[in-house]
Amino acid sequence: MSIICCNWKMNGSVELLNQYAKSLPVSEHQLVLLPPTPLINAAIKILPKEWAVGAQACHAESHGAYTGMVSSELLAEVGAKYVLVGHSERRAFEDESFLSSAFYKAEAMQIQPILCVGETWDERSQVYEVLTKQLALLKLAKLPEIWVAYEPRWAIGTGKTPEVSEVEVIFSWLRQEIQGLSPRQSDKIRLLYGGSVGVNNFQEFFSSKNIDGGLIGGASLKLEQIREMLL
Ligand code: PGA
Repeated sequence: MSIICCNWKMNGSVELLNQYAKSLPVSEHQLVLLPPTPLINAAIKILPKEWAVGAQACHAESHGAYTGMVSSELLAEVGAKYVLVGHSERRAFEDESFLSSAFYKAEAMQIQPILCVGETWDERSQVYEVLTKQLALLKLAKLPEIWVAYEPRWAIGTGKTPEVSEVEVIFSWLRQEIQGLSPRQSDKIRLLYGGSVGVNNFQEFFSSKNIDGGLIGGASLKLEQIREMLL
């Protein structure tokens, strides 16, 4: 069984939720949907119970004058179970200290953070240095599970992916690094690969023993593709 985590980004609609509910097969995979925040409530009502619903980001503060942002407190109130922290499309305006506070606020509200890490194209030769910095905040993680999505930034939405053999080396390093940072959760580490996962390559990625599942963006908006991945 793999984890299939769908990141709709700023896409989707109530209609797409209804299509998910009507046309997707019952799946043995662990399913998580991250719709835009205004759809969280509808997603919880419309989707079958095997889908957990989460958010794509949360603020580091519990409340305050932060127009347009959303706190973990509110996400918990509407029933979100997961939240992305540090997605690369947000890292430009969320620094490490913000992300660390956002991560721990989510944990405090019993929302499972999914920490997103990954290097840019230019950083490929220093990938381990980049990942070491991005993972450092896990040192104080408290929830029983740790979820990390490795997404090379250059693979997101581009149709380019690294070789599965290259990714496997990174994933085995990631697991060891996280075990070192958070020994308490060492057997509860969930590692997702993200970046241009689709029908043509998901089997290759998901059959790798070090990869627990995928964070799927563009392909999760295409019913045919997501259906095939769930079968
Ligand atoms: P993609 O996005 O599957 O469209 O590359 C993945 C993500 O941004 O999480």
